[in-house]
Amino acid sequence: MTLSVKNSPAEVRPTPLITPTPTALVIFGATGDLSRRKLLPALFDLYRQGHFPTTWRIIGFSRDQYTTASFRQFVEKIITARPEKHTASQRADFLQKITYQPGQFEQGQSYLALSEELIRLETQEFGSCSNKLFYLAVPPTYYEVIFQNLAHSGLSIPCAGADGWTRVLVEKPFGKDLATAQKLDQILGLLFKEEQIFRVDHYLAKEALQNILAFRFANSIFELLWNNTNIAKVEIKFWEELGVGERGAFYEDIGALRDVGQNHMLQMLALIAMEDPGKLSAAAIRRKRTNVLKQLRPLTPADIRHHTVRGQYEGYRAETAVRAASDTETYFRFRAFVDNDRWQGVPFYLESGKKMQENKTEIAIYFRESNTCLTQVAEERHQNLLIFRIQPNEGISLVFWAKKPGFAMDLESKLLSFSYHDEYSLLLPDAYERVLFDCFRGDQTLFTSTQEVKAAWKFITPILEQWHSSPLLTYQSSSRGPKNK
Ligand code: BG6
Repeated sequence: MTLSVKNSPAEVRPTPLITPTPTALVIFGATGDLSRRKLLPALFDLYRQGHFPTTWRIIGFSRDQYTTASFRQFVEKIITARPEKHTASQRADFLQKITYQPGQFEQGQSYLALSEELIRLETQEFGSCSNKLFYLAVPPTYYEVIFQNLAHSGLSIPCAGADGWTRVLVEKPFGKDLATAQKLDQILGLLFKEEQIFRVDHYLAKEALQNILAFRFANSIFELLWNNTNIAKVEIKFWEELGVGERGAFYEDIGALRDVGQNHMLQMLALIAMEDPGKLSAAAIRRKRTNVLKQLRPLTPADIRHHTVRGQYEGYRAETAVRAASDTETYFRFRAFVDNDRWQGVPFYLESGKKMQENKTEIAIYFRESNTCLTQVAEERHQNLLIFRIQPNEGISLVFWAKKPGFAMDLESKLLSFSYHDEYSLLLPDAYERVLFDCFRGDQTLFTSTQEVKAAWKFITPILEQWHSSPLLTYQSSSRGPKNK
């Protein structure tokens, strides 16, 4: 019998979005780092590919003194630098649908002006009510005041009848700890229903993370081994070569654990450890991810002392907008356990750092070695290793053992590997394209729920609290993090 392996480099694109209701997207912090680097390019790429509502407008809102004309120039510069080909008429049409509204996040007056602009759009351009999407691309310290002002100005209330909606997109970190996250949730809960709140964790929207679910539940050979009988440990690594760059002011208040640990990395852990959701619905998947986060064993003071490390790269204190005596961590490592039958006793090691020796985000599953005829003859340990490469070179590798040719029973490790870049000629969609597309169509699968955020903070907050009295180790740039960790 011949086994045929279907290996078609199919379209990696989502289906086009067709919604008859006009949509207005307001970006708070439209001239900031996130908007410039991620949102505006992603919006243009979605638009170019036809994955946009039929009728739409983007309103940039920020403190900077731009006019609509100068903001359009700002956007034009960004989209002209895109590597993907586009036509001049696409560019012109996109820019023509963008306007700018200067305003202060703290001033009610600015929201009234925004509200007037939206009414003008609806009456003079759309000719009907519109769906509204508010993207908070601002430092988390502004969330509360923006939420309050959205409510007072009436902007959070949908006006498009049964088919219309108002949605809010918020970036991580949502809060600084459990208490502040709960307070934000209370405020947000008064203004919006859960189905209107899209908490962005762009890692969930990365192709390689979505593939974890696919790989686990479409390949029963692995799922059968997915437990503490067969898995010895899991390592989740998030190394970045760059330092904080221009984001010193933001990072100083946040640190590595809040920046990527509480969210991106715990979500990776959740995808590895979660149970089969039974169906591919947002509610079912988010519930299973939440269950894992709730089952993280709380770290005791002794665990935090012995099994967590915090570090700062040399030179961090000289970065722009960083305090001269800063004790913000740019590196961390900790050990976690998931307290359930499947994972009892399996350590999960999570490590992240800026200015590390290489860019490497990956999840390594170490399988247990079994005692066989080969254990006695071989000098090496025969451990199998499954690696999810999140970036760069997204894909999956499996380390297995094979006999070396020759008269002795010598073994060596080999690699079975899958790489997205080798298999698909298309560029993988940027995570922010997926974030925006899913928000337009109202699919919350790749966004974190209130419960997930709460469970993650519950686990992380005690570490942050105890770290005030823990040593901060320094490490050299381009290294593997602090020595003696
Ligand atoms: C962001 C963090 O959420 O993720 C950054 O705030 C980090 O500090 C970034 O560099 C990494 O994202 P990506 O998609 O570039 O890997």
